[in-house]
Amino acid sequence: MPISIKDRVWLKLLLSALIPLMIGIFTVVTTIHQQKMSSLQREQEKQDAHLLRRQSDNQTAHRHKETIYATYLDDVTKLLLSNNETKRLVYIRAKTLVTLQQLDSERRKDVLLFLYESELIYHNPLKTTTTLLKVNNADFNGISFQRTEKVECTFKFLYLHHVYLSNASFIDCYIDYSNFSHSLMYNTVFFKALLFRTSFKFALLDRANFNQAKFYQTDFSGASLAGCNFRDAHWIHQGLTFTSANLTGAILSNQQLERSILTNALLPNGTWGPIRTTSLVVNGDAEQDCSLQGSTNFTGWQISVPGVISLLAYNNGNLTDQYGKCYFRVTPSYTLKQSISASQDISFDEFTLLISAGIAHYKASVDFRCSGNQYGYMELTFVDLYGLRYFPVNNQTKTGVAMELLTISNSTHFEVRSVQLKIAFIRNTTYTSINGSAEENYCIADNIEFFILKRE
Ligand SMILES: *[C@@H]1O[C@H](CO)[C@@H](O)[C@H](O)[C@H]1NC(C)=O
Ligand SMILES: *[C@@H]1O[C@H](CO)[C@@H](O)[C@H](O)[C@H]1NC(C)=O
Ligand SMILES: *[C@@H]1O[C@H](CO)[C@@H](O)[C@H](O)[C@H]1NC(C)=O
Ligand SMILES: *[C@@H]1O[C@H](CO)[C@@H](O)[C@H](O)[C@H]1NC(C)=O
Ligand SMILES: *[C@@H]1O[C@H](CO)[C@@H](O)[C@H](O)[C@H]1NC(C)=O
Ligand SMILES: *[C@@H]1O[C@H](CO)[C@@H](O)[C@H](O)[C@H]1NC(C)=O
Ligand SMILES: *[C@@H]1O[C@H](CO)[C@@H](O)[C@H](O)[C@H]1NC(C)=O
Ligand SMILES: *[C@@H]1O[C@H](CO)[C@@H](O)[C@H](O)[C@H]1NC(C)=O
Ligand SMILES: *[C@@H]1O[C@H](CO)[C@@H](O)[C@H](O)[C@H]1NC(C)=O
Ligand SMILES: *[C@@H]1O[C@H](CO)[C@@H](O)[C@H](O)[C@H]1NC(C)=O
Ligand SMILES: *[C@@H]1O[C@H](CO)[C@@H](O)[C@H](O)[C@H]1NC(C)=O
Ligand SMILES: *[C@@H]1O[C@H](CO)[C@@H](O)[C@H](O)[C@H]1NC(C)=O
Repeated sequence: MPISIKDRVWLKLLLSALIPLMIGIFTVVTTIHQQKMSSLQREQEKQDAHLLRRQSDNQTAHRHKETIYATYLDDVTKLLLSNNETKRLVYIRAKTLVTLQQLDSERRKDVLLFLYESELIYHNPLKTTTTLLKVNNADFNGISFQRTEKVECTFKFLYLHHVYLSNASFIDCYIDYSNFSHSLMYNTVFFKALLFRTSFKFALLDRANFNQAKFYQTDFSGASLAGCNFRDAHWIHQGLTFTSANLTGAILSNQQLERSILTNALLPNGTWGPIRTTSLVVNGDAEQDCSLQGSTNFTGWQISVPGVISLLAYNNGNLTDQYGKCYFRVTPSYTLKQSISASQDISFDEFTLLISAGIAHYKASVDFRCSGNQYGYMELTFVDLYGLRYFPVNNQTKTGVAMELLTISNSTHFEVRSVQLKIAFIRNTTYTSINGSAEENYCIADNIEFFILKRE
């Protein structure tokens, strides 16, 4: 059917109206699209800028660390060249500790290598430790060394006493004559390392990895080795020393355990190794340096007034009985005007684990024989891990009593780490029946003993 003129007019009108509408719609759509695009672009730009800034921040941080490290090298090198001897090590220590805190593990490793190369932490056995940098508390956490075909990893005489060295690794490294005593080394990896003549005394090595390591004359006394892995590790020639070490949950084969020194140690299965039951006093029976002539110079004891205590031989030469040949007394020619004492500092290093576990008690004893106006006493002053001295405990003989065994015993406080044992000779100034010469007024002491025992 043909379209009427009227309709044609309408259609024309409609079409002419549609065109601008279409244009309008197109414009709107385009604008929306453009807006969307540009906002996306802006977002992208923002992200790019952010990334760029982060990278530049990262670079800045990196450069900052470089600067810190370079400044450190400069300063320490200058200090090393200066002849300001006395303060040199103190300044280097301060600089090192502060610098290490600001660096990442990669740079900390460089600091360690620098200190080692400049012999500040190289313990040349001909030098005393006073020429070394005191590295106590230095932060070397997370540093990692590994021998590769290109890079060697050898440390001899490395001195890292009391440092932070957790999460570090020394993979395939050769470490000889080195000292890691008292260091904090949790999780540290010594995979395939050779560890010769090295001290890990009192190091905290929980969960450390010694898988396939080789040991020779290495000392783990007092170390905490809970959960350590010694799988396929070898001890060459001698037994490995684990005296007073905590081996709870450590991976050690029966064969490895059999070839180890486990005195006072806590074994992987939670039982204790053999407990030392001998006296800790050096020359407590007065038998070292014993001679008929007597001696005022003998091993093991500090004398309050040097030369005034003698080590003398029993005149009947009682060789077989419990007293042996010699005893201690005040020098015969000395007229006692004050208390005279012999003392000895006894370290509990071999017993720290037993003591900190709270299952140790101590027993001290001495045989006294006194005559005339004299009496004797024994005094124990304990010192704890912070160096604090406890109030002394003591016991004394009666005046002039021939033969008296004095004892002191109690539980050992879990924080004590040593004791000063003192044996003293003294005159009772209020004693009435005074009898003549010094020869009739004296005490003798013998068999001075001190034990730490495990409470059952
Ligand atoms: C920062 O830089 C280090 C190396 O210089 C790189 O390993 C790290 O991935 C970078 N981090 C960022 C967020 O770019
Ligand atoms: C040692 O060096 C420090 C730092 O460089 C300086 O402050 C100090 O005065 C010097 N001491 C002597 C005695 O030269
Ligand atoms: C050692 O690594 C563990 C696990 O990655 C982490 O939890 C711990 O904080 C790290 N310790 C130190 C001292 O860096
Ligand atoms: C390790 O260093 C400490 C602290 O200087 C020292 O007391 C100890 O004797 C050293 N150990 C060895 C085996 O050299
Ligand atoms: C624990 O281990 C030690 C050493 O291997 C062994 O002598 C002892 O018999 C074990 N004790 C128990 C209860 O398994
Ligand atoms: C005491 O003995 C030591 C070692 O036995 C010796 O070095 C020292 O010279 C002696 N002192 C005296 C005063 O005899
Ligand atoms: C010698 O030994 C006997 C028997 O043990 C003992 O009674 C006596 O006191 C000892 N003499 C001396 C001077 O120690
Ligand atoms: C030994 O180590 C384990 C695991 O770290 C710990 O729970 C235990 O208290 C330690 N024992 C002693 C006596 O320190
Ligand atoms: C005094 O010494 C004499 C001779 O050595 C002795 O017989 C006497 O018992 C002593 N008196 C006292 C109170 O010790
Ligand atoms: C002193 O020693 C005696 C004899 O061994 C003992 O009976 C007494 O309990 C001790 N006194 C103290 C305070 O330890
Ligand atoms: C034993 O030790 C405890 C705690 O350390 C203390 O309170 C007590 O007085 C001591 N006993 C003796 C007899 O010294
Ligand atoms: C000292 O002598 C007096 C008087 O003889 C006596 O009462 C006192 O117990 C004596 N002191 C000692 C520590 O033996």
